[in-house]
Amino acid sequence: MAVSEFTMQVPAQALFGAGVRSQVGEQIRRLGGTRALLVTDRFMLSSGPAEEIKGLIEAAGVACAVFADVQPDPTDVNVATGLEALRAAAADVVVAFGGGSVLDAAKMMTILAANEGPLREFRGYHRIPAAGIPLIAVPTTAGTGSEATRVAVITDTERDEKLMILDGHLVPAVAIVDFELSATMPPSLTAFVGVDTLTHGIEAYVSALANPLTDALALACVRLVGEFLERAWRDPGDMEARAGMAMAAYAGGAAFANASVGLVHGMSRPIGAVFHVPHGLSNAVLLPTVTRFSLPGASGRYAQLARLLGFAAEGEDDATAAARMVAGLEDLNRRLEVPRLGALEQLEEGAFEASVAKMAADALASGSPDRNPVVPTAEEIVVLYKEAW
Ligand SMILES: NC(=O)c1ccc[n+]([C@@H]2O[C@H](COP(=O)([O-])OP(=O)(O)OC[C@H]3O[C@@H](n4cnc5c(N)ncnc54)[C@H](O)[C@@H]3O)[C@@H](O)[C@H]2O)c1
Ligand SMILES: [Fe+2]
Repeated sequence: MAVSEFTMQVPAQALFGAGVRSQVGEQIRRLGGTRALLVTDRFMLSSGPAEEIKGLIEAAGVACAVFADVQPDPTDVNVATGLEALRAAAADVVVAFGGGSVLDAAKMMTILAANEGPLREFRGYHRIPAAGIPLIAVPTTAGTGSEATRVAVITDTERDEKLMILDGHLVPAVAIVDFELSATMPPSLTAFVGVDTLTHGIEAYVSALANPLTDALALACVRLVGEFLERAWRDPGDMEARAGMAMAAYAGGAAFANASVGLVHGMSRPIGAVFHVPHGLSNAVLLPTVTRFSLPGASGRYAQLARLLGFAAEGEDDATAAARMVAGLEDLNRRLEVPRLGALEQLEEGAFEASVAKMAADALASGSPDRNPVVPTAEEIVVLYKEAW
């Protein structure tokens, strides 16, 4: 097998298991931290779990300030406000506790603590000059996989654009993957973030930049989602399923950050930026339509994924198996009660029509569609948005 050159960047340390959050203080001390900023959101603070983490940090003899003003689909404003809190606390370590929004906002706070900015300058690939202060990522959804990735996605509020920032300096120093934390997710959130995970696995596996290591991670991700997503959705307290999905999210993150995502993510970010549709949901509504478009570029790989997800039988030839992927993903959305794009309350048809050209341009500018098995033109992206409606 010819293996071309590639780089893998993943956290140097990742802890998995029920209750591993109790090791957060120990991990801070191992990193030499003495004053922590705990970054979270209002819900995680008001419902209790962030208080528990604060207690664990303080019990290790580490001072802990709290910043809880990260909104879903975090903005440059959230990052700037958090940076002020970081400076006021003179923090030397950041603990991010929440979903992908919290993790991403916290990542950029650590970076802006050590780099001039503005944040928009870092958009794209490998644009961050200096390492930030160390970050411990504790995900509570499963998930974006941000705890495993060198990626942050932040909304530029002036231009209504979700900036994709990829750089080795964004890899958390430690990921603490405690699946107990995800058990409070309601079924709809479980579904949206779980289909985001699935999309990471699929897009990494069919990416033009896939390598043998990302393939292994992507396949593990897809297999785990196939086995556990619907179980976690049906029974939030199914801890075996929660553990499986937490692992899938980590594996999917590690895979896509090193192999790239593709057209689904490229088209999904503009929908999030303009219409404030949750990231997982905007991926889920696009996934079947975009997969139909991408199939001809990687039918052997899509066939493998269809078999892994149980959409196709083992003995079926690649062309038949790959074609089953689209119907399989549509069925999965139906079973998880994911609505069609046109049925989302955030979207009004006229406003959507008026935005598709800008959204297509932003999708292309992110670079993700270049790694897709079939690379689209702006016109093709416009057609796909309309088909998904
Ligand atoms: N950095 C990356 O690698 C990467 C990858 C994919 C997506 N993203 C980004 O991540 C963001 C989305 O993150 P997300 O999907 O994890 O959701 P989120 O962080 O936006 O959270 C959504 C909601 O769920 C709540 N929540 C979080 N954990 C919960 C729990 N255990 N129980 C109940 N409610 C809970 C939050 O308080 C919030 O209200 C988007 O901005 C997306 O672009 C980043
Ligand atoms: Fe994603």
